[in-house]
Amino acid sequence: MNIKEARSQFPALDQLVHGQPLVYLDSGASSLKPQSVIDALSQHYAKETANVHRGIHFLSAQGTMKYEASRKAAQEFIKAPHEHEVIFTGGTTDGINLVANSWSDIFLNKGDEILVTTMEHHSNIVPWQIAAEKKGARVVEVPITDAGEIDQAAYEKLLSSGKVKMVAMTHISNTLGTINPISQFSKMAHDVGSHFLVDAAQSVAHMALDVNELGVDFLVFGAHKMFGPTGVGILWGKEELLNQMPPYRSGGAMIKEVTIEKTTYNELPEKFEAGTPHIAGVNCLKAAIDFIQSIGYEAIHKHEEEILKYATSELKKIKGLRIIGEAKDKASVISFVIEGTHPHDIGMILDEQGVAVRTGHHCTQPLMRRYNVPATVRASFSLYNNLEDVDRLISALKKAKELL
Ligand code: ALA
Repeated sequence: MNIKEARSQFPALDQLVHGQPLVYLDSGASSLKPQSVIDALSQHYAKETANVHRGIHFLSAQGTMKYEASRKAAQEFIKAPHEHEVIFTGGTTDGINLVANSWSDIFLNKGDEILVTTMEHHSNIVPWQIAAEKKGARVVEVPITDAGEIDQAAYEKLLSSGKVKMVAMTHISNTLGTINPISQFSKMAHDVGSHFLVDAAQSVAHMALDVNELGVDFLVFGAHKMFGPTGVGILWGKEELLNQMPPYRSGGAMIKEVTIEKTTYNELPEKFEAGTPHIAGVNCLKAAIDFIQSIGYEAIHKHEEEILKYATSELKKIKGLRIIGEAKDKASVISFVIEGTHPHDIGMILDEQGVAVRTGHHCTQPLMRRYNVPATVRASFSLYNNLEDVDRLISALKKAKELL
């Protein structure tokens, strides 16, 4: 499928908002869904509803087959060595919480350090703080440069403390768009005996993920930013680590044998999948993966790079507009502020013109402090955007400037 055809697959784009054709520039928050994913979800609830791993009847067996086919598709999608290393979660945040809780039980001790960067989403800071507090460990910040790149010299120095047990780093900053060189940074972490978790929430819709090339121990992402449903995500972890980690949530499906006195736990992946999972979500995840693969990351990247380049140069022509985050390697996410205006006011005036952006701190308050701004306007582009969307953004911004 080519990019033009791909755009036509998104019914949400075929509507008016405040009387204007919708321009959706908030894919960093959640992507729109293509017809194939909508159909898969509707088919599930219309004809395929049943629980999985629990019944011998036709619908339950069919549901289980589809559920496990999604796991297989996810394994191949991220090139994971083993299917049972793929754990279905409630999303990126849920996946990080699982690792922070369960991993720290075994691997984190008093006086240890966990490194997180200034550009992390709160979801990749707070779970580590809670884990560190329980164990008497410390969360330490890896600073960034003015351009919005990780300060490599500082990272190297922090790693040399001999206390670092985990580095938790985003692949792409949800606010700045910076693409971090994960394979280089994970190797540096491993050289000092630390584990490495990559938050791929923002990268999965834009670039191919290969856990071997990235060289990480854990990788997490959610389905809803990659054209899939909300409430479902993937945690991939190395088998040897997941096997040592205790269950995070407990209940049905994660057990081998229960007596009132004691329980033995199931093998991977079930050990980490207590309770009835989000069956519809998991089964539709495969449709989302198929959709991405029918276009290909190469075509997606080429298209989004063109949009990023054009949008950046057009935005820079607006007087008083400052782009926050100008890393050399950037995804199609642009945060900015306009002198003398508040991002929230800009966002509201854009909305009135049918242009959807996100405004606020984007769950990255440490980053807002780093740049000394209370908030930014963020335009995040996806494969279904085009250059006309950029033109609409620019003219809506000009109007907002006139009004404010
Ligand atoms: N993490 C999402 C965003 O960046 C919600 O908007």
